[in-house]
Amino acid sequence: MKILFVCLGNICRSPLAEGIMKSKVEKAGLTASIKVDSAGFEPFHRGDPPDYRAARVAGNHGLDISNHRARLFTTNDFDTCDLIFIMDHNNYRDVLLEARNHEDEAKVDYLMNVVNPGKNQPVPDPWYGNMKNFEETFKILDVAIDHLLSRIEKSLPE
Ligand code: 4NP
Repeated sequence: MKILFVCLGNICRSPLAEGIMKSKVEKAGLTASIKVDSAGFEPFHRGDPPDYRAARVAGNHGLDISNHRARLFTTNDFDTCDLIFIMDHNNYRDVLLEARNHEDEAKVDYLMNVVNPGKNQPVPDPWYGNMKNFEETFKILDVAIDHLLSRIEKSLPE
């Protein structure tokens, strides 16, 4: 199965989510069954490494996300990914605009709905903030991804 995290720039929230998920997948011994990726919608940041504050907060938690390079979401992601988790309302609108059918649409959900189902809560965008905001966003992502991984583990064949 392949999980995709999507935000606007693909330099802050979704690369952090990708890094956190990859680390938890590795610790759970599930790298063969769960692939993880991230993408964004802002062409300005295409090819960029993570925002230095995102890289720093990841490093503070023992994660190295420095090899990540921002890429744009494409329609092809609906074909290669099973679950697409977005961070906020704009991402939700942007991804759904690319959906070709109900099958594509059904793959998309707010990441925070794995914690608080049906509430469509956004993951706060730390881009205009400071390290405290990045730390807050990291913690929110970390909790959400714990929930996500345990949900996926229950759904995997024995
Ligand atoms: P991200 O954060 O969507 O979490 O990667 C942002 C990155 C860049 C911009 C906004 C949010 N920007 O406006 O360029």
